[in-house]
Amino acid sequence: MAHNDADLTTRPSVSVHAPGTTSAGVMESTAPVMQLRDVSVYYGSYEAVRGTSMPIQQNQVTAMIGPSGCGKSTVLRALNRMNDPIPGARVSGEVLYHGQDLYAKDVDPIQVRRRIGMVFQKPNPFPKSIFDNVAYGLRINGIKGRLDDHVEEALTQAALWDEVKDKLRKSALALSGGQQQRLCIARTIAVKPEVILMDEPCSALDPIATAKIEDLMFELTNDYTIVIVTHNMQQAARVSHYTAFFTAEVDEKQVRHGRLVEFSQTGKLFTNPADKRTEDYITGRFG
Ligand SMILES: Nc1ncnc2c1ncn2[C@@H]1O[C@H](COP(=O)(O)OP(=O)(O)O)[C@@H](O)[C@H]1O
Ligand SMILES: [Mg+2]
Repeated sequence: MAHNDADLTTRPSVSVHAPGTTSAGVMESTAPVMQLRDVSVYYGSYEAVRGTSMPIQQNQVTAMIGPSGCGKSTVLRALNRMNDPIPGARVSGEVLYHGQDLYAKDVDPIQVRRRIGMVFQKPNPFPKSIFDNVAYGLRINGIKGRLDDHVEEALTQAALWDEVKDKLRKSALALSGGQQQRLCIARTIAVKPEVILMDEPCSALDPIATAKIEDLMFELTNDYTIVIVTHNMQQAARVSHYTAFFTAEVDEKQVRHGRLVEFSQTGKLFTNPADKRTEDYITGRFG
């Protein structure tokens, strides 16, 4: 895809990239959907995350783990320009989506967020009916075809249809927390993004609701690419194919910066980590 082609409305065909390296040193041989290249994120003059390079592989779950404040949410938001509205927030380096830099001048952030959707920590349904929550994005995007069919499809994919099909006109706020979170996932997938970003999507949920979302994530990888931030290492080990471990490093001026320490296949990261800091974290000696 040409560099000046900012049309993100259709799924670009996947081009073959030369193998790249991550800032944590792992070689990647397949073409990723997204690629961070030396990405730093600033809040004003504060460099919250420094020099991150890693791929996001297609139809896989990539987990980002690490202690609180190490920049996981900051990096996640950089993937679909959700830091843009924060005053003073700035990204350097490249965030590539099918080889296209999402921060290039001609890229429309609204289109970026349509291709790369986000689910938040606390379920945040609109104070509207279940149906209208899912139809919301379809309506504002002027999606063609029968709204009812699209809503049913999204709710089915989010493993919520059977529980709500008889009360679609009832308020979304009457649903349980777990149901609300699956509704938010349905709302996100209704507009058919390619990538879904999830920031600690289960942290407000009980274990049963959490298990349902974890099962759902696995199902969703048939159609979507998922990036999840979690402070729960067991969850990362259960749901993800790749894991990125971040930590905060203190520089010579005693300023803390989030850094990617290690990126690897999840099984390897948890059983045979390459970095001592990863090992200390996963064995509970730190963080
Ligand atoms: N909107 C913001 N303005 C200023 N600093 C922020 C903002 N959001 C996060 N930070 C800072 O950036 C660093 C990384 O935060 P964050 O990405 O939220 O970490 P994590 O998600 O890993 O807990 C922290 O030092 C945090 O205080
Ligand atoms: Mg966070």
